[in-house]
Amino acid sequence: EKGGFKHFMLKEIFEQPRTTADTIKGFISREYTLPVSLNEFRRVLITACGTSYHAGLVAKYWIEKYAKVPVEVVYASELRYSDNPINEKDLVLAISQSGETADTRFSALAAKEKGAFLVSVVNVVGSALDRESDYTLYTHAGPEIGVAATKTFTAQLAALYCLAVSQSPEREQLMAKLLSVTSLMEEILSRAEDIRKIALSYSSAKNMLYLGRYLSYPIALEGALKLKEISYIHAEGYPAGEMKHGPIALIDEKMPVFVIAPRDRTYEKILSNVEEVLARKGNVIAIGFEGDEHLRQKAKDVISIPHVEEDLSPFLTVIPTQLFAYYIADFLGLDVDQPRNLAKTVTVE
Ligand code: M6R
Repeated sequence: EKGGFKHFMLKEIFEQPRTTADTIKGFISREYTLPVSLNEFRRVLITACGTSYHAGLVAKYWIEKYAKVPVEVVYASELRYSDNPINEKDLVLAISQSGETADTRFSALAAKEKGAFLVSVVNVVGSALDRESDYTLYTHAGPEIGVAATKTFTAQLAALYCLAVSQSPEREQLMAKLLSVTSLMEEILSRAEDIRKIALSYSSAKNMLYLGRYLSYPIALEGALKLKEISYIHAEGYPAGEMKHGPIALIDEKMPVFVIAPRDRTYEKILSNVEEVLARKGNVIAIGFEGDEHLRQKAKDVISIPHVEEDLSPFLTVIPTQLFAYYIADFLGLDVDQPRNLAKTVTVE
């Protein structure tokens, strides 16, 4: 059932080109049934937990760019007990792989009760959140067995990108580009062995910092979460620009810094952040575009990814972070698919 892979997590990482494509195709076949357009609302309020929350942070940038509506992203467990003034002018977007996460369901239901239009993104058809929502977008990732979310994250990104561009006049071209990103995902997976070798040289780290800006900031959070949950190595994700406001004090030769640096609008800035790390004797492992010599001169290790449009970089940058965490956890002999203290679905608040 693991299809020749050692763990479900590794199998699920490798399934991503297909599950991403399936999700996009699923959206294309249903897109005209979407009953509302995002810009009818005064804001979009995204709520979710864990990895699904990180997908929401990426979606914020896409929705603000294409639908031009302000987007707020709030952890479901924090939204539930806040006084966030929600009403019928809000579209609440709840993101949950399982559709059963208590925090997400209860805050989504409370928002619906206050009059918000509730759209959800779920992977499990017929799940509680699916039934409770006004409209559901499905991710077609298939069952995910590994406790660490991987293919459902990229499937969520696909569904959310489709939603963000659904009213754009350039929708057709944008969707075609989105679909073509799946062959670039394939290319990264074909170089998994190179990533494994790099990962193993970091397996004795006790702490790691993950940095990114703009669309790579949520990927830094997601990369750090993956490392924590399956390898039990302490890792923090941070917006790179915030490093100088505190975390820079932690940097020394013992704390590797994982920098996500595709060539986007923030590239020059993140290169300066890399310099700041080097000046404190930190070791940098970076994800960058193929042929990026600047990065190669600075970082100790570089994981190359194919060039991609700025918008779509999260589909590519996340894959090396998943593999990096996987290979370290496996090397350390840990139970990758069922890490300690964690459940796949958290149905308590
Ligand atoms: O089923 P959900 O998407 O609502 O689950 C949310 C989180 O519990 C989940 O993403 C969790 O953080 C994963 N173990 C992360 O890999």
